[in-house]
Amino acid sequence: MNVLDAKTGANRILRYAYLIVLPILIGGFSYNAMVPKSEEPIELRTVHPAPPASTKVHGKTYTLQTSQNPYRVNPEGKYDQDYSNANIVEQGMGRLMKPNANPWDKDAQGYLKYVREGGEIFYQNCHFCHGDNLNGRGLHAFAFNPIPANFTDPGTIAQLQETFIFWRVSKGGIGLPNEGFPWASVMPPWEQHLTVDEIWKVILFEYWHTGYYPRTWD
Ligand code: HEC
Repeated sequence: MNVLDAKTGANRILRYAYLIVLPILIGGFSYNAMVPKSEEPIELRTVHPAPPASTKVHGKTYTLQTSQNPYRVNPEGKYDQDYSNANIVEQGMGRLMKPNANPWDKDAQGYLKYVREGGEIFYQNCHFCHGDNLNGRGLHAFAFNPIPANFTDPGTIAQLQETFIFWRVSKGGIGLPNEGFPWASVMPPWEQHLTVDEIWKVILFEYWHTGYYPRTWD
């Protein structure tokens, strides 16, 4: 009260000192707490943590062990790696295969048509970080730590199941379990921007472009 009330003398000087020192102290602490740090956290992190048993995307629950990419299922409704190998066109009773077809063909059907659609999604959303050639060297890649995944590296999508990728793409860096932190991955949670179908298609494209096949249980 003496300091607050003081009209003259040492207390008045003290009041001015408080007015200056306290804001500087509080401001300094807040600044320190909020300023972005560029040092790497000391703790190690697991790049591929164990996924959850199921994940809920756009209101639907997907069991990671049993879900399938709907665009890798053949016209008979079976998960079919061969179907993914060629451009299969239904012709009357039989199936016509075009082995060297590519998704940029105007008349590409089925699987390759979905690969093309996935490619469009990739080049609209993902190449900024994951790179034109899917090698993780996109325009913005080196602003981040950890850097974006390199899909051509056998240590990423090649050794993972497609549903793991589905979970990672949908939930992004913030959806990682505790083992994934305190390293903050900037991978966006794509469920906020893409539909479930778009997510499956962009995954299809990533495997097609790199020439890898997702791991399966068998
Ligand atoms: C802002 C940059 C950025 C964008 C845009 C981005 N990613 Fe990522 N992505 C990352 C980072 C960073 C990681 C994490 C790398 C790590 O955890 O070591 C990652 C990880 C991934 C992984 C996990 C790979 C693995 O081995 O676990 C997949 C799959 C993936 N991204 C797919 C996509 C897809 C599909 C898109 C577009 C729809 C996309 N990303 C867009 C930055 C980005």
